[in-house]
Amino acid sequence: MRTKYCGNIRIVDLHKSIILCGWVNKIRNLNQFIFIDMRDWTGIIQLVFERKNNIVFKQAINLKNESCIRIIGIVQKRNTKNKNLDTGEIEILVNKIKIFNISKTLPLDYSNNSNDDIRLKYRYLDLRRSQLLENLKIRNKITYLTRLFMTKKNFLDIETPFLTKSTPEGARDYLVPSRNYPGKFYALPQSPQLFKQLLMISGIDKYYQIVKCFRDEDLRSDRQPEFTQIDIEASFISSTKIRNFVEKLIKKIWVKIINCHLDKFPKISFYDAMQRYGSDKPDLRNPMEIIDVSDLLIKEKVLSFFKINLEKKHRIALLCFCQGDKISRKKIDEYSNYVKKFGSKKLFYIKINKIENGLQDIQSSIKNILDKTILKNILKKTNAKNGDILFLIADEERIVNRSLGMLRIKLGDDFIFFKKNIWKPVWIVDFPMFKQDSNGKFSSNHHPFTALKKNNQKKLEKNPHLAISDSYDLVINGYEIGGGSVRIHDAKIQKKIFDIIGIEKKIQKEKFGFLMEALKYGAPPHAGIALGLDRIVMLLTKTNNIKDVIAFPKTTSASCLMTNSPSKSKKSTLNELGINIIEK
Ligand code: AMO
Repeated sequence: MRTKYCGNIRIVDLHKSIILCGWVNKIRNLNQFIFIDMRDWTGIIQLVFERKNNIVFKQAINLKNESCIRIIGIVQKRNTKNKNLDTGEIEILVNKIKIFNISKTLPLDYSNNSNDDIRLKYRYLDLRRSQLLENLKIRNKITYLTRLFMTKKNFLDIETPFLTKSTPEGARDYLVPSRNYPGKFYALPQSPQLFKQLLMISGIDKYYQIVKCFRDEDLRSDRQPEFTQIDIEASFISSTKIRNFVEKLIKKIWVKIINCHLDKFPKISFYDAMQRYGSDKPDLRNPMEIIDVSDLLIKEKVLSFFKINLEKKHRIALLCFCQGDKISRKKIDEYSNYVKKFGSKKLFYIKINKIENGLQDIQSSIKNILDKTILKNILKKTNAKNGDILFLIADEERIVNRSLGMLRIKLGDDFIFFKKNIWKPVWIVDFPMFKQDSNGKFSSNHHPFTALKKNNQKKLEKNPHLAISDSYDLVINGYEIGGGSVRIHDAKIQKKIFDIIGIEKKIQKEKFGFLMEALKYGAPPHAGIALGLDRIVMLLTKTNNIKDVIAFPKTTSASCLMTNSPSKSKKSTLNELGINIIEK
């Protein structure tokens, strides 16, 4: 049907007769000539229709933007070059046109960003936008590179079921009713976690899969209800080996996609990440760290001023921000309100005008508790300079960490005082095995199949809240790109973990009986990880919206505006499934 693609024609094709298929991108009617930019998925080329060629000229007059056409024409040199186009030196003089489909006026406007809902309703049109197409091409390249890399390393691509049982990853399940077993449901997998572990028990030494996962959870700009993981598992392998392997894969992708050579990824423990950045997914492009000054302020007067007790897991810490001169009183109040959202009662500040003048030349909301020595020690520890401002919070440790962590991000967003155009990957390791809620109930920090770190067995008995797992997350520029762990391969320990997180015996058997049984038949030590493919594509296409890298994404309330799903089902279908809808 065609001999060339629009975007690939060059000056070497001069005088050639060619056939192109594509869409009308833009029309300009100059009376004697009609110029049309024609587009396909490789790019754009200019077509010329001359009035003296009456038949094609008349057809061109009736064209509308986004109509689908085929043309036959001759490549000729343009009078004036268009430097913005790869095909800018040439154009096609059209001598024949076939109109496949005249387009209605589009419901969205490519030049003015139409609103999100319209773009999602007409997603197939929005995908004609070159930026989205480019993103999908990059996504394709990343999956191609991943498959190549994994195959070369002898990993086996194995599919696992979608109609399955609940796989706990911390979200709600999407359920699928069963017609054969009315009242029973399959759960769509939140991840292939248990299947990949079972494959290890089967003796499949190295598994991977690029796979859809389904999670019914609150959505954000980097979360979709169905997303894709590069899922990996291997037997007889340590956490260090898995991390090194994944590091190689990521480095390969970065080199091939954006020609960037990443250095060795640093490793930070979960505890340190929380203390230094107030987050388990710190953006290390931002150089600011939370600095603990509790030891400098252990004075009765100070502690009673802050109303804290350092023996009770309270903390006094601060951020030293280098552009204090840009922070007005109003801005301080704004940040004070901001940290309240994260539980902080108050945000204190010390603005340093002239270090040489000591207490005299600072402005501070805690001037009355500062003395010369305290100030000197704080300045020494923070390495503060003239013009800096220190933001200080004294509160429960978790509140201080979260609040200063969020303030660190906000200052970064508001003042962009560091290079954004760099890559800062980091491994966060040694997560606690469990989280504890206010009633003391434990739940798994990763998932309940995560193994303990060496020498933590005893803690499991007496102090589960102190037990550390052999787990790791990969974080790049503040995004959690992947997470994984060494797995439990011993049924007794697995049972112990279920007991600690309060899964009753009956439920253990009902939900995980197959796993517990499998773990008794020579289960090998194994470990793995899952990388969020969509987030990797987000980083490499420089978008902060996950919808930009998925062909048919859902809205933040998990609906598809194009197909209008979820939708109601016929009464007869529901009857067949034994489902009765209770109207809310
Ligand atoms: P985890 O739950 O950490 O681990 O998920 C792995 C990675 O998947 C990505 N991700 C998401 N991406 C987009 N939208 C979502 N809703 C979403 N949820 C997660 C993140 C995350 O780091 N089975 C374990 C892995 C393992 O232990 O091997 C798991 O799924 O980038």
